[in-house]
Amino acid sequence: MGICDSTMGLSNTLFVMAFLLSVSAFPFLGAASIKSQAYFNETGHLPCHFPNSQNISLDELVLFWQNQDKMVLYELYLGKENPDNVHAEYKGRTSFDQDSWTLRLHNVQIKDKGLYQCFIHHKGPKGLVPAYQMSSELSVLANFSQPEILLISNRTENSDIINLTCSSTQGYPEPKKMYFLLETENSTTKYDAVMNKSQNNVTELYNVSISLSFSVPSETNNVSIFCVLQPEPMETELLSPPYNIGAKPRETPLPDKDHTVWIAGLLLTLVIVCVMLLFLTRRKWKKRQPGRSRECETMRVEEKESEQTEERVENREISDEARRVVNISKTASGD
Ligand SMILES: *[C@@H]1O[C@H](CO)[C@@H](O)[C@H](O)[C@H]1NC(C)=O
Ligand SMILES: *[C@@H]1O[C@H](CO)[C@@H](O)[C@H](O)[C@H]1NC(C)=O
Ligand SMILES: *[C@@H]1O[C@H](CO)[C@@H](O)[C@H](O)[C@H]1NC(C)=O
Ligand SMILES: *[C@@H]1O[C@H](CO)[C@@H](O)[C@H](O)[C@H]1NC(C)=O
Ligand SMILES: *[C@@H]1O[C@H](CO)[C@@H](O)[C@H](O)[C@H]1NC(C)=O
Ligand SMILES: *[C@@H]1O[C@H](CO)[C@@H](O)[C@H](O)[C@H]1NC(C)=O
Ligand SMILES: *[C@@H]1O[C@H](CO)[C@@H](O)[C@H](O)[C@H]1NC(C)=O
Ligand SMILES: *[C@@H]1O[C@H](CO)[C@@H](O)[C@H](O)[C@H]1NC(C)=O
Ligand SMILES: *[C@@H]1O[C@H](CO)[C@@H](O)[C@H](O)[C@H]1NC(C)=O
Ligand SMILES: *[C@@H]1O[C@H](CO)[C@@H](O)[C@H](O)[C@H]1NC(C)=O
Repeated sequence: MGICDSTMGLSNTLFVMAFLLSVSAFPFLGAASIKSQAYFNETGHLPCHFPNSQNISLDELVLFWQNQDKMVLYELYLGKENPDNVHAEYKGRTSFDQDSWTLRLHNVQIKDKGLYQCFIHHKGPKGLVPAYQMSSELSVLANFSQPEILLISNRTENSDIINLTCSSTQGYPEPKKMYFLLETENSTTKYDAVMNKSQNNVTELYNVSISLSFSVPSETNNVSIFCVLQPEPMETELLSPPYNIGAKPRETPLPDKDHTVWIAGLLLTLVIVCVMLLFLTRRKWKKRQPGRSRECETMRVEEKESEQTEERVENREISDEARRVVNISKTASGD
């Protein structure tokens, strides 16, 4: 009787100590429950910070974890894993980290979020005595994909209306806000939109999208549209790549293509000319013996010079054209 009382007293002291320990270690939580976070499909950690001040061997302890529905995740009975009491949901999904007294839960799903408890009992001469208990709350997150803007319908000759959607997939929890930003040369406009949410009934992950329909004046030169997803108030926003409207595509890619064709043609001519010259000098060389293919080198230098000049001329033509287009659009917006 006396022994039993003192053991109970001891375990109570241990429990109180543990309680104080976890409270003082996490003063803002105000309870002996630790919050932990895990990413979907990754590993979660369910701590059981047993101080073990008496250095009790695992061979004398019984440990187990259970969820809020009292389903057992893992049991270590006197140093041996005991799968008999483990619920099917958790079979093969856990591993015990002896050094930190933490249970790892693998392949975390959204439905794994919630409250967990670990219990430690000491097997003494008079049977099992509670030695320690701790609660932890697991929350599960999944990062939404980077939002992506897609064109649903383009403006036509008859209509300046353009329809866009922006979507982001496979995230959790439900995001707070999603909106478009329209950036022009001088201004940024925010377009709030109602989120279209769909939740996968197995994984419980969300896909979200918003749509935007707006009028682009035909003379508009340069509008960049971004889509912003605000997952949770405290989390960083996700930004889509820009969707650009009114960029003049002729300005950059076409001249580049022209150049390659043009340079290739030039090189070909150069090679032919060189071969011909080589041929000619060889025939001359058969008669006399002058300084071999110097003529060819000279020709090459001359060709290069003319190539550069022509390039310069073409660049000037392009920028002239660009200036004209800009002038036209300026006149148009001036009206
Ligand atoms: C879960 O992770 C595995 C690799 O660890 C991957 O192959 C699988 O696609 C992931 N499942 C989901 C739904 O993300
Ligand atoms: C705890 O006990 C083990 C053997 O049971 C021993 O190796 C270890 O040094 C002890 N640790 C402390 C802190 O007493
Ligand atoms: C999720 O996003 C956060 C913040 O951007 C990042 O630190 C974390 O590594 C990401 N996790 C996964 C599993 O992608
Ligand atoms: C949309 O229309 C503009 C002309 O109004 C055109 O330049 C652009 O290539 C079109 N975009 C797509 C994706 O069809
Ligand atoms: C932007 O501002 C500049 C000068 O502040 C002005 O010249 C230009 O017309 C403006 N552009 C538009 C599209 O309003
Ligand atoms: C919401 O999104 C789903 C799939 O992404 C689509 O089938 C549905 O039409 C959308 N609903 C609205 C109101 O846009
Ligand atoms: C969410 O998006 C993913 C990836 O695009 C797709 O495979 C899945 O079917 C979508 N789920 C729902 C509920 O729309
Ligand atoms: C999930 O939804 C699909 C159709 O949307 C349905 O066929 C399937 O039975 C549902 N699964 C569960 C577990 O509810
Ligand atoms: C574009 O969006 C508007 C407004 O949401 C809608 O009335 C129109 O039918 C859409 N057009 C197309 C081609 O999707
Ligand atoms: C158009 O927008 C892009 C990206 O914002 C910028 O790099 C470019 O200088 C702009 N062009 C003009 C003519 O404003």
